[in-house]
Amino acid sequence: MSETELNTLQSEILKAIESASDADALDVVRVEVLGKKGKLTELMKTLGKLEPEARKAFGAALNVVKDTLMQSLEAKQKILASAALCARLEKERIDVTLAPRPMADGRIHPITQTTDEIVTIFAAMGFNVAKGPDIEEDWNNFTALNMPPDHPARQMQDTFYMPDGVDAVAVAGSEADRIAVASDKKRVLRTHTSPVQIRTMLNQKPPIRIIAPGRTFRCDSDMTHTPMFHQFEGLVIDEKTNMGHLKGCLLDFLRAFFGIDDLPLRFRPSYFPFTEPSAEVDIGCSRKGGELKLGNYGDWLEVGGCGMVNSNVLRNCGIDPDVYQGFAFGTGIERLAMLKYGIPDLRTFFDGDMRWLKHYGFVPLDIPNPALVGSGAC
Ligand code: DAH
Repeated sequence: MSETELNTLQSEILKAIESASDADALDVVRVEVLGKKGKLTELMKTLGKLEPEARKAFGAALNVVKDTLMQSLEAKQKILASAALCARLEKERIDVTLAPRPMADGRIHPITQTTDEIVTIFAAMGFNVAKGPDIEEDWNNFTALNMPPDHPARQMQDTFYMPDGVDAVAVAGSEADRIAVASDKKRVLRTHTSPVQIRTMLNQKPPIRIIAPGRTFRCDSDMTHTPMFHQFEGLVIDEKTNMGHLKGCLLDFLRAFFGIDDLPLRFRPSYFPFTEPSAEVDIGCSRKGGELKLGNYGDWLEVGGCGMVNSNVLRNCGIDPDVYQGFAFGTGIERLAMLKYGIPDLRTFFDGDMRWLKHYGFVPLDIPNPALVGSGAC
């Protein structure tokens, strides 16, 4: 084959590559040229029959053509792949600016509703609502609550730490000081609402009577746990507050919340680093026939934790434990909502499924708890 013929062949193939409209068409061209029986492959095969001199010259020329064609194929492949991606993105485009579809009748989420009910009842008992941030300092979330960095109780609350952590905090002093202070400043998604106790005691003088509902986060996800959930915290600090007040307060709240006048309550001894003594709060129930029913039936169900505020916690917040004492409690809001409104699966709370919300949600002007109306809490 003459040089001119080879050049003509090369331009023909380059044209074919250029006009391939998609990856499949380009592959056809590639096989026609470089496949087992491709034009260039066949020419390569003829080299063996040539005289050494001619073989050298033609071989070199063929290699140049092959390199040119391969480069062109590769470049075209990239262009077609990026065009295909653009076309796909265009086709699958989501218009995030689209206005929401109007809903004829919106609903209040059961978490919002339940939180409102809790707040209403405690407000009637003279509690204020306190709030804290979702992103908390390690010191507020753990250390001040009597859980120093090496405390085993921290492990029960598998935590989401923020990426800015120890290294982001410049601290003077010894290595030990640096680690202690830096780890206190580390930020976490709060694992419970208890740090609001700390924030409140640091900012207010006793007497204190607060309720703190809000989002909490733990590195947990299964049938009965979601990584984000809600709790509410209660804190009362005064000079003569005692365990009897704590029990009476929770009894009044739980009876009003569930609308069951004779709902029994018991304290089961327990341990929390931030309270001493500590107790789990159980309410009466029945599980007969696999159905859970609340009331005076002899069986028990745990709904939260509580205790007398540990004197270390008071001291950490600058409150003199020889003058003041108090109680605290904490409960999961989903848990209470599920029990009260018969919602079987925790995960459905956060699926964002409108059918679920239509079923379990509330119409704004409904008062779903008749017990509240008569109780003077409303
Ligand atoms: N913070 C605890 C938790 O998330 C719940 C709790 C227990 C809060 C006892 C309290 C308390 O205030 O006194 O598991």
